[in-house]
Order: sequence, then C-alpha cells, then structure tokens
Amino acid sequence: MKLSPLLESKRVLEQAAEFSKDYLQNISARRVQPNADDKAGLITLSTALPEFGCDPMDTLQLLHDIGSKATVATTGGRYHGLVVGGSLPATVGARVLNAAWDQLVLSEDTSPIAVHLERVVANWLRELFMLSPTSSVGFVTGTTMGNFTCLAAARHRILSRHGWDVEKQGLNGAPRIRIVASEEIHVTVKKVIAMLGLGIENMELVPCDNNGVMKVEEIPSLDADTIILAQAGNVNSGAVDRIAEIAEISAASGAWFHLDGAFGLWAAASKSKRHLLAGLEQVNSCVTDGHKWLNTPYDCGVAMCADAEAMHSAMSTVAPYFSKDSDIPPKDMVPELSRSARSLDMWAAMHSLGRNGIEALIDRCCRHAVLAGKLLEEHGFEVLNDVVLNQLVVTHQQNEHRLQEMTNRVCATGETWFGATHWQGRSGFRMSFSSWVTSDDDVKRSVKAIIKEAKKMGIID
Ligand SMILES: Cc1ncc(COP(=O)(O)O)c(C=O)c1O
Repeated sequence: MKLSPLLESKRVLEQAAEFSKDYLQNISARRVQPNADDKAGLITLSTALPEFGCDPMDTLQLLHDIGSKATVATTGGRYHGLVVGGSLPATVGARVLNAAWDQLVLSEDTSPIAVHLERVVANWLRELFMLSPTSSVGFVTGTTMGNFTCLAAARHRILSRHGWDVEKQGLNGAPRIRIVASEEIHVTVKKVIAMLGLGIENMELVPCDNNGVMKVEEIPSLDADTIILAQAGNVNSGAVDRIAEIAEISAASGAWFHLDGAFGLWAAASKSKRHLLAGLEQVNSCVTDGHKWLNTPYDCGVAMCADAEAMHSAMSTVAPYFSKDSDIPPKDMVPELSRSARSLDMWAAMHSLGRNGIEALIDRCCRHAVLAGKLLEEHGFEVLNDVVLNQLVVTHQQNEHRLQEMTNRVCATGETWFGATHWQGRSGFRMSFSSWVTSDDDVKRSVKAIIKEAKKMGIID
C-alpha cells in the first residue's frame, strides 16, 4: 500500500535516526579506518541505475549496511588526521531539520529563517573575532572558497582604485597585483591565486621561522597594489603569524591584508590563546571553517571582509527577476547562487556550546596536543613543533626514515589515524586534536597504539 508523503517521510526519518544512533554508538569500538572487507563491500553499490524505484527504507538500509562500515570514523575520538573536527550533536540534529526545510538561500524572499540566522551568526562571529560591525560575512563551503571570495574582493578593490572594473574587463591588460605571502601559506591558497588568474609564480614568498611563523622583518616593502597573505594556524605546527605587526605594515602601505584562519581563528574564543590573534580586528579580510575546530559537519566555512562593498561587487549576481533587498542578499556575498542554509550549522554549534563551551573545546584540544606530545616524548620520540594550538609534529631522531612505514602500520591497526608529514626538513608524523569527542583516554589510547607499533618495529625499546 502506498503511504502518504508525510507518513513515508516520518518512517524514513525515524529509521535514519536509528541508523545514525547505531553508527555513533559503535564508533568507539570500531576501527578508525575501515578494513579491506568493508571497503570491498562497496562493490554492492556499483549497480546500473535501477530501472524502477524501490521502497526508500530499502535505499536507506543499503546505505547503512554497506555505507556506514566504509566510512572513516572521523566523528569518533581517535581520528587525528588533517584538521578534522567531529560533528556536535546539535549540528547533526540541525542538519536533519535543514534537510527537511530544504531552503534555498538567495534572499529573504526565498528563506526568511536562513537569512535571519546568517545575520545572527555574522554578528556572533564579528564579536568573537573582534571584527568591525560593518564587515561582511558570507557562508561558503569551506576555507578554500572563503579565501577565493575574500581575494576576489581584494582584487576588485585594488583594481578599482586604478579605474579598472575587473568583473567587466577581466584581467587582460589590467594593472598588476602583487601577492606577498608566507612561504608556509596553505596549498589551497595557491590554488585560489591560480583560480583568480593572479598566477602562483607571481607570489613573493616570505621566509618563516622554525615554527612556521612568517618573519615580519623579511616582508618586502608593500604598496597599495599588494595583497599580503598570512595565516592563523599552520596546518603542521599550528603556528599563528604575527598579525598585529603585519597589520601595521600593510595599513601604512595601503596593502590588503588577508588572513587564512581555517582553524586557528577559533583560538580567539580562548582567554589563554587569544593573545596569539592580537591585531585581528585590523585585517582587511579573513576566513575560517566551521567543519574543522568548531565541529560542524562538512561543508561549512565563512568569508569575512572589512570592505563589504568590495566583497559584494566581486560576488554580485544581477538578474531582472531578483528583487532588491535593503541589505545585501546572501547570493551576492559568495560564489554560489543556489545553496543550502549553511549558517544553520554554525548557529547550532555556537548556540549549543555558548561562549564557554567554545572556549572549553579549544582549550581541551590544545591540552590534548600537549598531552600526546608529552607521552610520546616519554617514550623517546621528539616533538618538532612549538605546540601553540592543537597540532603536533613528531619524529624520532634515529628512525626518521622509518616513520612513514610506522604511521602506515599504526593506521592499519584501526586503533587511530594520523598522517606522515615533513617539517623543517625532517620527516615525521602529524596529529591534530580537533574533535569535541576526543577524551584524555582517547589520546592515551592513540599514543599507546603508536608505542606498541614502534616497539614492534624496534624504533623504541
Ligand atoms: C590553514 C588552512 N587553510 C586552508 C585550508 C583548506 O580548507 P578547506 O578544506 O575547508 O577548504 C586548510 C585545510 O586544512 C588549512 O589548514
């Protein structure tokens, strides 16, 4: 018998909730990386497009039976790869509601709630990150697109001062824009420079110290045609550039100062870490992710720009069928036209944690990085970075060349997951502590797995 759309949705939602609970309940007991059999099971999904549909419950069942096993347990406590947060309960719940709402966030006309929440979250972020109340905030898929949005705004502003309308005229024959960047700038920033037609080879790279902090004294002289790129949170060491000093130099020269704070910007929420971000209020633009340290699900990032007009001009979509809002509508702040109510993720995370909860999350993750470093050092490993935030880089003096293999072997046990890296000319492995779920016991268990494998390989006694 065919169910009504309402009953059908209800039944599927209840089942999805059951499967999700089942998944999360077992996450601590299961392997972090799926095993070969679980991955091999994916072949079951490699079918031709079915000729006829089926009961949605069967679709969901298949997804859970085959798909859940073939996930990487990033929402568990022992995933330390890249910079990956988990998903806070309120954000998972909000995602379900968001899907049920299925809002199109173009303007107030298409979604009053989503646009309202964007404005609420924008205010919270401006306050937390000490940004001007008139700065613009656009909700993007992540830091890559946040950097793209902000640097398109910078490109617009610099060229418009020359009377050049880059959106209309393009870059052929345009005045030259200089790009000065930390040599440690994240690889995705280079991709953005390429996407914007500014050319990676035009970047003037500034050397960094041993922890990956840009040497301010080596920044070449800047001018009003320059974009200077720094970061809060080096993906290896967690280091934060000297924001206040860079802001001073760029303000004096009229350069545009952009800060990539993919994860490090959240340190502003911590009283004990906030000093690292001194000067943040002076940047021309900055970005951060929700899906890293704030622990929202993917994809969730924000682009923030002091020059709201520049961001708007770079991202504006004009069509006769769009009504004119008094405020800049969301579609005119970011690259995408159609998109989801992305602000809901950040709103749910920030609302459910509150200021204290965000601070506790940041502090706990930083403490975990220190704890793991200390435990590893006690067993003869060497911590290579100054652990200022949640990132840890480790090596072993006599066995550097064997750490890639050791990392692979530890990850293959399924106990924990992290990646090999190179840092300051040394080989080692990197661990990130970014999840709200990770407990002290998880940290100890991850370290124990490393010690066990290192002993087996004769790396340590
Ligand atoms: C410093 C930094 N910038 C940019 C990115 C890219 O962010 P996303 O993957 O959200 O686009 C990352 C990702 O780890 C990062 O650490």
